[in-house]
Amino acid sequence: MTEKKEIKIKPAKGRPMLTWVGKRPLKSVAAFPAQHIETYDPNNELSNEKAEDLWKVWPEKYPKGGLLFHGDNKEVLAHLLANGFRGKINLIYIDPPFDSGADYVRKVQLRGVEGITKIDGETYTLGEQIQYTDIWANDNYLQFMYERLLLMKELLAENGCIWVHCDWHKSHHLRFLMDEVFGSDHFMNEIVWRYVKFQMGEMGRFANNSDRLLLYKKSLEKWVFNPIKFKLEIPKKLLKKGWDKESGTIQNIKDENGKTQKIEITEEKVDDVWNLQFMGATSGERTDYPTQKPERVLERVIQSTSNPGDIVLDCFLGSGTTTAVAQRLGRKWIGCDINKGAIQITAKRLQTIIQEQIEAFEKSKIKNSQVKLIEIEEKKEIEQGQLAFTVWRVNDYDLQIQHNEAVNLACEHIGIERTRSDVFFDGIIGKKLAKIIPFNHPLSPIDLEEIKRELDVRPDEDRNILVVCLGKELAADVWVDEWNRLRRGKNAVNKIEIVELRTDPKYGKFIEHKSASAKLSITRSKDKIKVKIEDFISPSIVERLDIDMKIFRAKITDWRSMVDCIMIDTAYNSEAFNIILSDIPEKKTDIVIGEYELPVPQQTTTVAVKIIDMLGEELILTKVV
Ligand SMILES: C[S@@+](CC[C@H](N)C(=O)[O-])C[C@H]1O[C@@H](n2cnc3c(N)ncnc32)[C@H](O)[C@@H]1O
Repeated sequence: MTEKKEIKIKPAKGRPMLTWVGKRPLKSVAAFPAQHIETYDPNNELSNEKAEDLWKVWPEKYPKGGLLFHGDNKEVLAHLLANGFRGKINLIYIDPPFDSGADYVRKVQLRGVEGITKIDGETYTLGEQIQYTDIWANDNYLQFMYERLLLMKELLAENGCIWVHCDWHKSHHLRFLMDEVFGSDHFMNEIVWRYVKFQMGEMGRFANNSDRLLLYKKSLEKWVFNPIKFKLEIPKKLLKKGWDKESGTIQNIKDENGKTQKIEITEEKVDDVWNLQFMGATSGERTDYPTQKPERVLERVIQSTSNPGDIVLDCFLGSGTTTAVAQRLGRKWIGCDINKGAIQITAKRLQTIIQEQIEAFEKSKIKNSQVKLIEIEEKKEIEQGQLAFTVWRVNDYDLQIQHNEAVNLACEHIGIERTRSDVFFDGIIGKKLAKIIPFNHPLSPIDLEEIKRELDVRPDEDRNILVVCLGKELAADVWVDEWNRLRRGKNAVNKIEIVELRTDPKYGKFIEHKSASAKLSITRSKDKIKVKIEDFISPSIVERLDIDMKIFRAKITDWRSMVDCIMIDTAYNSEAFNIILSDIPEKKTDIVIGEYELPVPQQTTTVAVKIIDMLGEELILTKVV
């Protein structure tokens, strides 16, 4: 979609201004094309012309349905700006990393009863999968947020609003950044969302049981604000004591002793303190994504500052809560995350919601004569949102192993002890400091110059350095040879040694990646096909469980425990995957079916089966029938 473009960004003009080490303006950004990778359109809505006027503001080059982007949001925001979304977004909600110094992990388990029962006292857990790391060097966090906020401002519609969800770690910095980017007179609210997460323990200070939501509007003249009401039940006894409320309906209810009590139900406007609890352990909305927020919080955000049919954007999407609620409330939506696991979880979540919505429509058609007003209203709202979405990738983030996870695995493999207190070096090994170069590029002199700069500001540092990389440029060797040549003496410090994992005889095994494999049959009879998956095995899962393959096979007898979900495309074009059938088990104890029958086009076609395993790895198998 379009060539690379340079996008100009207006400078921030608001006051006061915050300053930090390395602060620089964002004058322009490069926008890259996006690659279409998946479509979910079970109702054939994307080719339906009838909703044309509802999609007037939607740039023509995109399908009319939700858009899910996998990539760094700086690039995704630049891509949206270059492709017709400038000034079109009505509501932005972001819940960025909080600079909390933590690795956010998701517990991964096998599916089904076998996957969660204990055999020989051991649960079959695949351990923790790092979803993202929230560790930032010095003031990088501020520059990171500043650049993205500037881009978001350009995307916002004149009557639009932006919410920044944060907590005590960064709320003060972010409010300053928002003042600078949007103007302090554009500030509308600082919501305190109170929940009970931590018990008041012996912490030596008060427990942190609240988050902040900063709300700013783009323009001073016009914005959307729909006050939210909640129902308040006041016992009649209290009413008599002079409770100063407009009178509402009086109802008789039974208290816990079975006694009838009169209560008055009145409607109260929500203020800037929101008492909303986290979803419970058994709640259907839980995805096990770390930092997932409750849908109730997003319901308030979306209802209060947007209208049905508006475009909602979240570019720190996580498990997709914003897009899930936007889909339910009939808003158009765009979501983005850098983590592939987040995109997979969100896509799964939205497929389930859209399926429920389609079923609800079907039901309401059947009892058409008795449709209540509320159902008609809901239907109208959902039509504005559309029952389909597509998934896109901006740049290539589809590394087999994500950087965060790779860093952890590399540390474990080589025996590096991670140090959280050092913002530059990743850890120590023996007496050496260790630096891991992101695996998405070969070690180059630029990385080495960065190490040199860091050592320049640490004159007392006398340890040698181990640099770990996946591959290296020849120029890196030349650079290191020269560096070490100048440090030949007995008392020389800061010598550099490189471990190149791709070729290293000792540590090389670590990067061997064995893909999953499956045995399946696809047979056609006239205009139908039968797909039967007979077996599936993921060597990465077996390795994670740290047991021998034979023992694993004996204990986990059903291949379906290893599979998270299955999708089928009956006319695969080897570019985008069009989900015609999806099998997503609802509960953790449920497993995929594994056998499907579905219609196919009359002419010869390629059937593709996508199997996503419990570690999020995707396997696509195809057959021409
Ligand atoms: C706090 S979580 C969001 C949780 C979300 N509100 C929910 O309900 O699940 C922050 C997310 O931002 C993503 N993220 C961090 N840096 C990013 C970047 N540069 N571009 C896109 N996403 C990013 C992380 O992968 C993570 O999923």
